Amino acid sequence: MNVLLPQEFLYQLKQANPIETVMSAYVHLVQAGSLLKCCCPFHSEKTPSCMVYAGTQDPHFYCFGCHAGGDVITFLMKIEGLPYMEAVERLAQNAGLPMPQQADDHGESRRRSRLLELNRCAAQFYYKQLCGEDKRGLQYLAERKITPQIIKKFGLGYADGRWDGLQKAMGAEGFTDEELIDANLCSRSRKNDGVYDRFRNRVIFPIFDLRGSVIAFGGRTIEADGEPKYLNSSDTPVFKKGRNLFAMQFAKKSQSKRMILAEGYMDVISIHQAGFENVVASLGTALTPEQCRLMRQYCQEVVIAYDSDTAGRSATAKAVNLLRAVGIQPRILHMKDAKDPDEYIKKFGAGQFRLLLEEADDAVKYALEHCKDGIDVTAVDGKITMMQKAVSVLADVENDMQREIYLSDLAKQQEIDPAVLKEQVAREIRMRRGREKKQAWRAAVNQPLMRDPVNPTAVGKRKSAKAEELILCYLFRHPDAMEEIAQQITPQQFVTELYSRAYGVYLREMPKLSAFTFSIFSEDFTPDEMGVLTGISARYEEIDVSHASVYDAIDVLRNQNDTPQESADTLSDADFRAIFDRKRKQKG
Ligand code: CTP
Ligand code: MN
Repeated sequence: MNVLLPQEFLYQLKQANPIETVMSAYVHLVQAGSLLKCCCPFHSEKTPSCMVYAGTQDPHFYCFGCHAGGDVITFLMKIEGLPYMEAVERLAQNAGLPMPQQADDHGESRRRSRLLELNRCAAQFYYKQLCGEDKRGLQYLAERKITPQIIKKFGLGYADGRWDGLQKAMGAEGFTDEELIDANLCSRSRKNDGVYDRFRNRVIFPIFDLRGSVIAFGGRTIEADGEPKYLNSSDTPVFKKGRNLFAMQFAKKSQSKRMILAEGYMDVISIHQAGFENVVASLGTALTPEQCRLMRQYCQEVVIAYDSDTAGRSATAKAVNLLRAVGIQPRILHMKDAKDPDEYIKKFGAGQFRLLLEEADDAVKYALEHCKDGIDVTAVDGKITMMQKAVSVLADVENDMQREIYLSDLAKQQEIDPAVLKEQVAREIRMRRGREKKQAWRAAVNQPLMRDPVNPTAVGKRKSAKAEELILCYLFRHPDAMEEIAQQITPQQFVTELYSRAYGVYLREMPKLSAFTFSIFSEDFTPDEMGVLTGISARYEEIDVSHASVYDAIDVLRNQNDTPQESADTLSDADFRAIFDRKRKQKG
């Protein structure tokens, strides 16, 4: 690859887009000694293990939990699911830097920006239709008590009954049929190979990303028996369902520590209209861990306001687990005499809904109450089963004081000796710890085989891999030693494929530069590979790599033979982490 961007341009790009600024649009950064850290946006965790090396000469991030890492470009690629060029373009745009000439017309990124442009035009078209001659859409929204202000704010629209209304209008704007299909706004007809509009006789809900671009649409039929009730964009190059939340562009700004999670478009809009702007919905799919992590960046507590039917209740239970896994406190809204928040607000008003929010049970209370579902608690057997369930719920509570409070309440309520209940819960917790330890042990034992999907040739060659890491790390820090080391060892003598390639690129690129930067790798390596390479630097952060140890490492590689080299004394990532923490404590 490596066709394109001059290092000088990349340097300016990074200067103009400090990694901490870009990252803080997605994560909550806190100071940790001289570094910044956050809960990793790329895997589920409750305590931050993603470190940001912002003040360094070549700013980068690295997650000790999932090994994601890289520079600001890699971060944007990963978090937005963008190809390399597109990420660079966004950063350039952000900073008002012109893209270098030859990279200007990159195909993939052009295609994406065309699709976003098309979505924007389509949303405008639907909005205009809503206020046009055919008033059925507007009437429908009026019947559902949506105000003109909210219609405007959410950019709601209307698609009438024509099969080609959008297609004609977008054609006139210069968009091709292929683009309309790519955007999932039109489908190809099986009969005559022409294309037709997907959204017809529907009110339209545009879906925005965090930056305010229209990335997809949902449409609700306005006909009594219209099928399906809701039609949604499927995934497109600019839209990945499980990654976005409806109305997040508003909720993110609401500055509330709490967010409301609803099931549908209409619920979000009703709740928003009732004065709560911190509300989102998961867009007709089951909630995903990615969506939870997104919420986690903007709030600490989520009130789940799903439908009150059975489906809603089982979805609630799943959401509770997913939210907990990312460190969010879930609370649950209890609605009586209404099937969903939309209906509740219509029936009882915004004030009543506010009360409901304030009374929302925390998830523990909710789970305890549902322990008796389907059980006859008047019988002894039933009561025992219920208490067993309750013990398991209590064991889930991580905070000791919280657990104590629920426990004593429950004991009182059920007329059980609190000491007995407490012993039961303690035993359950001990059993789980034992189970977890066993699993962790098993995972550790199996590690050499499963490790390193990114650098697969490193499996069974840990010693060589570590030697290579040492050499690379030394070179990252001492570019002036390049010629000396290059004379001692060639990329072909490196054993693992990834590091060999990295060493090659290093030797090729560094002569052109005055200082080392990870961006020499960003064009030739995938984001995952970037993570591994940045990881070398991050993991050795607190470890002195001496000139002499590099020669030892070179010896290892020169003398390496085909015998397996697995040895217990090679450092695992956990070891590195421990050293790192210890040193930091000594300093602070
Ligand atoms: N949904 C969907 N496809 C369907 C039905 C529902 O994608 N055929 C999604 C939509 O995002 C919808 C959400 O699931 O907003 C909730 O569905 P439902 O409870 O049926 O919709 P309501 O919000 O109650 O819609 P309405 O009040 O318009 O009937
Ligand atoms: Mn509903």
